[in-house]
Amino acid sequence: MTADTIAINQQMDQFDGHHSVWLFGYGSLIYKADFPYLQRRPASIANWTRRFWQGSHDHRGTPEAPGRVVTIIEQAGAICHGMAYLVTPEVFAHLDHREKNGYLRLAISITFDDGDDGNDDVIGLVYIATPDNTAFLGEASEQEIARHIARSAGPSGPNSDYLNHLASALRELGRHDQHVFEIERHLAALTAAPSPPPV
Ligand code: SIN
Repeated sequence: MTADTIAINQQMDQFDGHHSVWLFGYGSLIYKADFPYLQRRPASIANWTRRFWQGSHDHRGTPEAPGRVVTIIEQAGAICHGMAYLVTPEVFAHLDHREKNGYLRLAISITFDDGDDGNDDVIGLVYIATPDNTAFLGEASEQEIARHIARSAGPSGPNSDYLNHLASALRELGRHDQHVFEIERHLAALTAAPSPPPV
């Protein structure tokens, strides 16, 4: 599958006729909402886990030297926490462009973490980069991912900013993500100032 998904995403008609749609964000969409929204609520999706397995040719790397950004991978029993936004359909033109490097819209069940009335699930959309997109990089150890992130940058800035902003946003949500926090720990160790030579 081509890495540019705009045309494929624009064919999706599942929510045609809806005045608003819930969008679930689990990566940069948690900390960078550069689009209008009607509501914003902490939320989660079941049986998916967040992984730095997608290559970034357009934001945090280049086609020659891709950065590493997150996608979601199916995993029974896992819960992926993030942020849900209620948006009007016009917003998807902007989102399709922003997420064009391999991400496809997928309809998914979203659970609001602040729901209290037993009616806190909706079907909404998530952008997912599946292993068949040409920018997909796949599994690597958290240490190797940290090394990769440390040396990558693209038009949206250093790859390390993406990781650090995501880790901070998850902390603000009060959510622990072992994979993200491990990579953050390795990256911090890599970029720590070398200790001064002994005198
Ligand atoms: C998302 O945040 O939901 C998708 C991946 C990204 O844009 O970082």
